[in-house]
Amino acid sequence: MKKEKVLIFDTTLRDGEQAAPASLSVDQKLRVARQLARLNVDIIEAGFPISSPGDFESVSTIAREIKDGPVICGLARLVEKDIVACAKAVKPAQRPRVHTFIGTSAIHTEKKLRKSEDEVLSMIIDSVKLARRLCPDVEFSAEDAGRTDGDYLCRVVEAAIRAGASTVNIPDTVGYTPPEQFGAIIDMLFNRVPNIDRAVISVHCHNDLGMSVANSLTAVAHGARQVECTVNGIGERAGNAALEEIVMALKLRGDFFKADTNINTREITRTSRLVSEICSMPVQPNKAIVGSNAFAHSSGIHQDGVLKARNTYEIMTPQSVGLKNNHMNLTSRSGSHILKTRLAELGYAESDYDMLSVYEKFKALADKKGTVYDDDLVTLMESEAGHEVIDTYTLDYLSVACGRGVAPVAMAKITVDGKTVQSAAYGDGPVHAATNAIDQIVGYKIKVDNLYIAAITEGREAQANVKVSASSAEGSFVGRGVSTDIVEASALAYMDIVNKIARMKKFKRKVPKVVND
Ligand code: KIV
Ligand code: ZN
Repeated sequence: MKKEKVLIFDTTLRDGEQAAPASLSVDQKLRVARQLARLNVDIIEAGFPISSPGDFESVSTIAREIKDGPVICGLARLVEKDIVACAKAVKPAQRPRVHTFIGTSAIHTEKKLRKSEDEVLSMIIDSVKLARRLCPDVEFSAEDAGRTDGDYLCRVVEAAIRAGASTVNIPDTVGYTPPEQFGAIIDMLFNRVPNIDRAVISVHCHNDLGMSVANSLTAVAHGARQVECTVNGIGERAGNAALEEIVMALKLRGDFFKADTNINTREITRTSRLVSEICSMPVQPNKAIVGSNAFAHSSGIHQDGVLKARNTYEIMTPQSVGLKNNHMNLTSRSGSHILKTRLAELGYAESDYDMLSVYEKFKALADKKGTVYDDDLVTLMESEAGHEVIDTYTLDYLSVACGRGVAPVAMAKITVDGKTVQSAAYGDGPVHAATNAIDQIVGYKIKVDNLYIAAITEGREAQANVKVSASSAEGSFVGRGVSTDIVEASALAYMDIVNKIARMKKFKRKVPKVVND
């Protein structure tokens, strides 16, 4: 079946960055842009050059540095100085684009712009012509198109194309239009705008009612050939349509949409993680495609089904989005099938243990703990076999000096096999210094993925409960520590991980691959 190409216009660095808690540096934006080029997006909207000198520099740096790949685009209001600055910022790009916009709904023209429809129309014509003189590729957006009067929107689109816009974008700026109505707007434009075939029709949907992806896909089904979206769906207010969801929907259901994209989907996970980290915006665990649970199975029935045939509960492979594997959460809902499989991966042959007894203990542990990790299974199996399971390392002493103008330094004493070993180390902060001192003693290579600190009692003397997630060659671990001192609680959580690694090294018979990373 012939599938038409839908261009992916990524606006993570413009609409997405608008919503990030802190603005990104030029270097951070360049890192994201490089990864977007690897992902093979068609257009990168790199920023809004007139908005600040930093944004101008980011757009021009990206335009200069990202070669042989996407179109580099900047945003501009329908104002001469915006358009001139934008054209200048994108000029170094091999394929530059100026994206200019104005509100076209009555709410925007009357209340925000305080202009008549005809005044706005002539601004569109003059500004698109100016942009066209400065840049060969011009996109025009009718902001708030979702709430714009149909007759007026047709006049706007026709005028923008006649003035030289080769892409016309129809945003649902406030995420207000349901998919059927949005599809009807796209149909109306294709039926009523005489020169519509001279431009690519694009859509840009916000997620205020959770309809951004549905609206974007509906628009594609009705003939839109560019979708504006962001990685992880970040963006103004409730965000924009999520790139990864649109791309995977088109990849999986190309039969329905008769469309496809140029995206290298195996770069999706890497891109999502980079954007999440750089923008300091964590991804919710149940987020489609890129959430940590997107390829994790918890129910015993599902786990059994996936072990028998993956496609019982997986509509796409984890590998297709760049993950190594799926993940089975071992919980009280897990059945003996997955437990047996996991134990085999850890090197325990079924003939070596009594499944009934192990399964019973596993259930009791899962009821108490929630999720059972590999190191918990190893401990369970070793005590089942009568081996003594004790901590290899004990933190006896920790002192940390830190403060304003002081490089944090920590001194730790740890007992290992009856002997006390001590070490001192600097770090970027007190917790970093403490874990560096511990690392020097134990000699493990540990990557801390997350550290959460929560108060478990109230008031100034509150107990801190620290949870650290970390990984090493032995697997992924979660460690916990409690103290009134948050540095000590963090160090204890880290020691918990150190001891779990030691146990895995001692008892595990075969190193399993870390999954779902
Ligand atoms: O949401 C919107 O309408 C926009 C435009 C500038 C395209 O971000
Ligand atoms: Zn937007």
